[in-house]
Amino acid sequence: MLRIWQRKTQRDWKMELVPLLLLSLLLASIVSAEISPKVGVNYGQLGNNLPSPAKSVRLITKTLKAGRVKIYDADPKILTALKHTNLQVSIMVPNEIISNISSNQSFADQWVHSNVVPFYPATMIRYLLVGNEILSQYNINQTWFDLVPAMRRIKYSLKTHNIHKIKVGTTFAMDVLESSFPPSNGTFRSDISGSVMNPLLQFLNRTKSFFFLDVYPFFPWSSDPVNIKLDYALLKGGNQTYTDPGSGLTYTNLFDQMLDAVHFAMVKLGYENIRIWIAETGWPNGGDYDQIGANIYNAATYNRNVVKKLTAKPPVGTPARPGTVFPACIFALYNENQKTGPGTERHFGLLYPNGSHVFDIDLTGETPESDYKPLPAPLNNEQYKGKIWCVVAKGANRSEVASALTYACGQGNGTCDPIQPGRKCHRPDSVIWHASYAFSSYWAQFRKAGGSCYFNGLAVQTINDPSYGSCKFPSVTL
Ligand SMILES: *[C@@H]1O[C@H](CO)[C@@H](O)[C@H](O)[C@H]1NC(C)=O
Ligand SMILES: *[C@@H]1O[C@H](CO)[C@@H](O)[C@H](O)[C@H]1NC(C)=O
Ligand SMILES: *[C@@H]1O[C@H](CO)[C@@H](O)[C@H](O)[C@H]1NC(C)=O
Ligand SMILES: *[C@@H]1O[C@H](CO)[C@@H](O)[C@H](O)[C@H]1NC(C)=O
Ligand SMILES: *[C@@H]1O[C@H](CO)[C@@H](O)[C@H](O)[C@H]1NC(C)=O
Ligand SMILES: *[C@@H]1O[C@H](CO)[C@@H](O)[C@H](O)[C@H]1NC(C)=O
Ligand SMILES: *[C@@H]1O[C@H](CO)[C@@H](O)[C@H](O)[C@H]1NC(C)=O
Ligand SMILES: *[C@@H]1O[C@H](CO)[C@@H](O)[C@H](O)[C@H]1NC(C)=O
Ligand SMILES: *[C@@H]1O[C@H](CO)[C@@H](O)[C@H](O)[C@H]1NC(C)=O
Repeated sequence: MLRIWQRKTQRDWKMELVPLLLLSLLLASIVSAEISPKVGVNYGQLGNNLPSPAKSVRLITKTLKAGRVKIYDADPKILTALKHTNLQVSIMVPNEIISNISSNQSFADQWVHSNVVPFYPATMIRYLLVGNEILSQYNINQTWFDLVPAMRRIKYSLKTHNIHKIKVGTTFAMDVLESSFPPSNGTFRSDISGSVMNPLLQFLNRTKSFFFLDVYPFFPWSSDPVNIKLDYALLKGGNQTYTDPGSGLTYTNLFDQMLDAVHFAMVKLGYENIRIWIAETGWPNGGDYDQIGANIYNAATYNRNVVKKLTAKPPVGTPARPGTVFPACIFALYNENQKTGPGTERHFGLLYPNGSHVFDIDLTGETPESDYKPLPAPLNNEQYKGKIWCVVAKGANRSEVASALTYACGQGNGTCDPIQPGRKCHRPDSVIWHASYAFSSYWAQFRKAGGSCYFNGLAVQTINDPSYGSCKFPSVTL
């Protein structure tokens, strides 16, 4: 039943567009510009070794052949470098000022005045995102409830500046859903459904904006690689399918399943026609020993397949939205060495910071697979089994290591007892050894509770036992 109803509303929506297109050339140009299937790239800057904005823009256009670019602020250097390019640009209001904007129209006006007006229209700013995944963070200072008021104020400011081509939205992670399986059971979390999602969807629907979604099949697959097949997560096609008992729709990949779960969650709140914009998708090309499937082979395979799908002509869409264009930006332009969290976070790049490809890719989707160089075989598609230690990274700053040592020793019960004077692991004058012991001990004790082997980049995982003599370093065993 649901399936028939769903298909029908899709068709009706597209048929409604036809007379509109005939009626208004202006509207026609706006609509067709918005639904261009070009794939772009997310240009994050959390690295201390990244090329200049001008060089980055050349890499984005010439090397990657991207059609769009999305940034996480409104960096004037980047927006200047993007002037007179063909790139459609998405900029972002930082999370920290959402509340200020929501309560103060002059504040919103000033933001637009200093971050949009100087660059528009020479820089083709087309999307303005108010905040990044704020519904996935704690509701500090009730910011969730300021989100829609802030979006309204920004939209109003754009209008008073006579800017009509910029869509206002905000980005969502998959965890805005409390249920995503089967896709037809997609449901928004109850803590945001009524109070935030209802007015938000109403705003997006009324302003003909998009639902900007960050969607990573890597995460559900890597947390359940037994039940989810890797090829299904990598959009490898093949013969694996899943039929949703609720909708009767048949899926051939995890990406479609995730998009349709969001589609069905919106349908449940009465919004079946809000277009989905893939704000981020990608696959890590590397990671830590305790992570699975993060390698160049999988990253190349996923990104090439997703680009092929998103640029297919005619558009393929998803089972619940057949034939629909999903505008998209791949995450990310570069491997960013200052991102925190597990190793995968620092390995989502299409390019290394020196500008060379991590793997061949063409975001127009036009290069045939056979033109690409062979890929290195994947070596970690199975979970690593064995012991892992956490030691000081090569080249780490000594005085920073000393502070991290103090921090690690201050966290637990006896984390650092063996490195006290007179004990087995004490080595006078060796901050690095002591820190390696403390990092291993800390990580072994707290990994299950979410502790990571990172320490601001001072620590790395190793599978070579750093123990010496009778001093045995604690390890994590997988
Ligand atoms: C935003 O509002 C807070 C609290 O009202 C204030 O402390 C802060 O200075 C404001 N931020 C800016 C950039 O004006
Ligand atoms: C509103 O924002 C404007 C511009 O930033 C600022 O001058 C003014 O003090 C703010 N008003 C309040 C009540 O915070
Ligand atoms: C919450 O509000 C307080 C008071 O305005 C401010 O100092 C603090 O920075 C805010 N925290 C966040 C995360 O916005
Ligand atoms: C459907 O979603 C609800 C939560 O919204 C969940 O409790 C239920 O288990 C899900 N059904 C299935 C079949 O997974
Ligand atoms: C969404 O927008 C369309 C047209 O713009 C309108 O017909 C429809 O009623 C809106 N949906 C809701 C639930 O407000
Ligand atoms: C799917 O394809 C693989 C490889 O071609 C084959 O080994 C397998 O038997 C097929 N499975 C089904 C259910 O058809
Ligand atoms: C760029 O950096 C990568 C990773 O560090 C390295 O493998 C590659 O050789 C470098 N390329 C050039 C041209 O320096
Ligand atoms: C090490 O870190 C400290 C504190 O952050 C800094 O002052 C110092 O310059 C750094 N030393 C080196 C060699 O980078
Ligand atoms: C330290 O030990 C005490 C008592 O055994 C326990 O209650 C506490 O949770 C432990 N703290 C940590 C951080 O493990």
